[in-house]
Amino acid sequence: MTLSPQWLDELRSRVTLSTLIGRTVKIQKAGREYKACCPFHNEKTPSFTINDEKGFYHCFGCGAHGDAIRWMTDQRGLSFMDAVKDLAAEAQMEVPAPDPRAARRQEQRATLHDVMAAAQDWFVHQLGGIEGVQARQYLENRGITAQTVREFGFGFAPDSRSKLKEALGSHGVDRLVEAGLLIKVDDRDPYDRFRGRLMIPIRDPRGRVIAFGGRILGDGEPKYLNSPDTPLFDKGRTLYNLDKASPASRQTGRILVVEGYMDAIALAQAGFPDVVAPLGTALTEHQIERIWKMVEAPILCFDGDNAGQKAAMRAANRALPLLRPSHSLNFISLPAGQDPDDLIRAEGPRAFAALLEKPQILSEKIWSHELAAEPLDSPESKAGLKKRLSDHVRDISDQDIAQHYRQEFQERYEKAFFANRGSAAQDRRYRRPGSPFTAKYSASTATDDTKSVSVSGHDLRIAKAILGGLIRHPSQISRHFEELTLFKLADSQLQDLLSELVRQAMRKETLDMQGLLTILEQTDCYNVAKGLLRADALNFTFNRKLPDPAPSELIERAHRDLSEAIQVITARPGLEAALAEATRRVQDNLDEESYAEQQRLRQAKQAFHDRLMELTQIDDVV
Ligand code: GTP
Ligand code: MN
Repeated sequence: MTLSPQWLDELRSRVTLSTLIGRTVKIQKAGREYKACCPFHNEKTPSFTINDEKGFYHCFGCGAHGDAIRWMTDQRGLSFMDAVKDLAAEAQMEVPAPDPRAARRQEQRATLHDVMAAAQDWFVHQLGGIEGVQARQYLENRGITAQTVREFGFGFAPDSRSKLKEALGSHGVDRLVEAGLLIKVDDRDPYDRFRGRLMIPIRDPRGRVIAFGGRILGDGEPKYLNSPDTPLFDKGRTLYNLDKASPASRQTGRILVVEGYMDAIALAQAGFPDVVAPLGTALTEHQIERIWKMVEAPILCFDGDNAGQKAAMRAANRALPLLRPSHSLNFISLPAGQDPDDLIRAEGPRAFAALLEKPQILSEKIWSHELAAEPLDSPESKAGLKKRLSDHVRDISDQDIAQHYRQEFQERYEKAFFANRGSAAQDRRYRRPGSPFTAKYSASTATDDTKSVSVSGHDLRIAKAILGGLIRHPSQISRHFEELTLFKLADSQLQDLLSELVRQAMRKETLDMQGLLTILEQTDCYNVAKGLLRADALNFTFNRKLPDPAPSELIERAHRDLSEAIQVITARPGLEAALAEATRRVQDNLDEESYAEQQRLRQAKQAFHDRLMELTQIDDVV
């Protein structure tokens, strides 16, 4: 579905940003704006400002910046569409429906949401009633506080086959079956699914109840009963507590993953709100990807016993094919036989916090698991270990990462079995290079002795964006004379425009965009220049039309990004050449040094790539 800019503008104008933000953050009025301690980084004095008139927030401390939609995606962790839907509901606007079929699905889900909300209310009510006494007692015995009961919405399903069906009868039996609240077997009379259970609502990222988990009170089978998959609930795609953990993770920069929802609740109560749990299954690919949207290296918490460690390895194996630069899993193992809830109840939050201080990284986890898997008392068993390790490496689809794993396992293996020869290799472990943008770095690449920088392919598209940026910010042309005059753009029209820009900037120090365009109007470059101002394929800050007058921090940001993009384009061809050369050397000599150099260059290349990605993915709206 595409939402028109007008519609989005209307939406933004109907939302009062300070009210929205004020719901999660304590804000103070400061003149025409509001101030708060920034929810995106830790601080004691407020540098976060909210401007209702302009409809955006900005943090002078960390640079966090955006509008109401951005707030919902970045602070609440919602997808763009979910953010829009939530805001629209509040602004009493209809989100335009894409097509009749989708509209019908949406409607159907809307009624199911109503059903689930009604069921949630009813379960909560039952918990407070006469029949809820045993459940209340159970909660108390487990040390769950009244506040936690409220926050997590605990409820109770009475031990009856028909009470829910009667209470929610107005929604219609079919809806109740569809929502998973009633069980229908063949054409017999549907009956209540949850009977005599403590009820735990499972919410979607927007905080709406989409399913329930029911725990038996005391012993009995099954211990937990979950809602079946419904149009609202897909077990493999849902993470328990995501709605609360996602905003919490913005503060902590961390996500904990535990096995059960009672663990998640116990941890949240003990002061670890950034916790999620799958729903009784091993983590799915989809869940891992979802978690990576919040943080790059979540910490998975497993019981130290055999079953727990098996589960940990299942998660590890699931992640290997998905790994990509910077994204991984970390692990902690709890004392055998304990889950996080048990540990906290036995030894307090501190004991858990201590474990979090030294998580195992994924490669270490796999190594130590395989090392301990079998006794290594024969040449054959040692070779078996080697084989298992290389099987894991084979599962990694990212070739750079696979290469690092191969090397690390090789080193560990040698150290374990050929102690003397291995130690030197250990010391030479790969170290991450500094920022690729430093002068030090470019000096070590081939850029020095290359007079010109040929720009083609993908970089040519970025060069276009840069040209557009220079037209918007002509003051920046003279700042980058040196680099710009080296550029050889593989497109003669663009090259002509660039030369013209440089010429004009040399002629006149203080140029503004309008002045520049007036001059360009006399040249053949005018249409290209106008085209670049419109082009929105590459969405850098410096390509945006800024509000007038523009806040200085926005201007500075655009200038900084422009300068960085120019540096990337300048350094990259040299880097590519150096990388090609290093790769040749590695193939010829296979010595450690060439290899390390090649890896360093690869990393630098990746850093360039990542930085560009970052520069293009900023602020949808200003
Ligand atoms: P408590 O005994 O209440 O502390 O639960 P726990 O969190 O320690 O649960 P456990 O480690 O036994 O299970 C972890 C997760 O597996 C639970 O949150 C459920 O999602 C799931 N699970 C456990 N037992 C059952 C069961 O009998 N049926 C189903 N469907 N899921 C279960
Ligand atoms: Mn438990």
